[in-house]
Amino acid sequence: MRTPKNILVTGGCGFIGSNFIRYLLARKDFTGRIVNLDALTYAGNPQSLADLAETHPDRYRFVHGDICDEAVVKRTFDEHAVDTVVHFAAESHVDRSISGPAAFIRTNLVGTFTLLEAARAAWKTRTDVLFHHISTDEVYGSLGPTGRFLETTAYDPRSPYSASKAGSDHLVSAYHHTYGLPVTISNCSNNFGPYQFPEKLIPLMILNLGEGKPLPVYGDGGNVRDWLHVADHCAAIGEIIARGRAGETYNIGGNNEWKNIDIVHLLCDILAEQTGKRKEEYTKLITFVADRPGHDRRYAIDCGKIERELGWRPTPDFRALLTATVRWYLDNPAWIASVRTGEYRRWLDTHYGAR
Ligand code: NAD
Ligand code: TYD
Repeated sequence: MRTPKNILVTGGCGFIGSNFIRYLLARKDFTGRIVNLDALTYAGNPQSLADLAETHPDRYRFVHGDICDEAVVKRTFDEHAVDTVVHFAAESHVDRSISGPAAFIRTNLVGTFTLLEAARAAWKTRTDVLFHHISTDEVYGSLGPTGRFLETTAYDPRSPYSASKAGSDHLVSAYHHTYGLPVTISNCSNNFGPYQFPEKLIPLMILNLGEGKPLPVYGDGGNVRDWLHVADHCAAIGEIIARGRAGETYNIGGNNEWKNIDIVHLLCDILAEQTGKRKEEYTKLITFVADRPGHDRRYAIDCGKIERELGWRPTPDFRALLTATVRWYLDNPAWIASVRTGEYRRWLDTHYGAR
């Protein structure tokens, strides 16, 4: 059992990172400190954690910096005596990786390399430390109608995003085999929940539903994703950094496969329930648009290994979790306004025309 004292969280102002920092600080058995290194790209929103400087002044620090900046990364390791890294920082949106892959190669590959080098220099032969790398099921490629991804499934990334994440996974694994760096990797399925940037399917649809805007469904809407609540993901990471075995990969999924079009219908149903309007007022907004190039057909995770080894399981009631997520977006207009003042202004509108 590891008890981290000083955790470096990268990308903590993003969706999963901000949820993870809140999760850690809420755990009674975690008494350590957190330093959040984030470059505040379009996806990073310091407002997601604005209260923590006041509620946890001794235990939470924010460092505005780029994971590709060797000097900043080294200084952060030294000044905060980092013993654990939980590495979320990444360019994370597939559509953006198609129209502009360069930032993905830089942050996801060069940034991960820079962190690994700093960890190796700071930790030398220490074994009481851990570099946990957050990755995606998209590295495994696209499934047909059956089967699920195992930790042993061969990598077959198809988008610049998934290729850059696959490369970063290989680097992390190589640092373990070559230099003995204590590492763990987790590959998880699509997350949903509060603080997710509204370029991803679920928050984009919720916002458009609320504003009566078209709901852009790519292709035939038959692509399948395995949806995982972000709180379940954070709990899984918590188990891995406490009890995961160095050198191991853990798959994290929701046992919860949905076709995109069915998710959109479910969201229409939930919105109707929440607002008292007729469901047809929402379903009439569904608009099939041109498909994403190279759109992976199906992802599904087999999370038997983390269930068996660490006793972690996803929460089963998807409709209740999705309803709570819808409520969060409806109840937090200030957060939504804050992300809209950034670079994001319905970026996708200009990239996909109605079919
Ligand atoms: P996000 O896009 O919401 O947040 C990314 C964060 O990283 C932002 O705060 C951004 O400012 C920061 N960042 C980007 N480039 C940086 C740089 N060069 N230096 C420092 N900070 C930088 O991402 P997310 O959805 O929270 O995803 C977090 C991690 O989880 C990523 O590694 C992603 O690949 C992985 N993942 C996400 C999902 C999902 O469904 N969201 C699923 C599987 C894996
Ligand atoms: P997304 O949230 O971008 O996650 P990922 O591509 O990493 O799985 O997309 C989830 C699914 O929803 C994917 O199959 C693409 C599809 N999608 C749409 O149909 N319309 C949209 O507006 C978006 C953002 C995604």
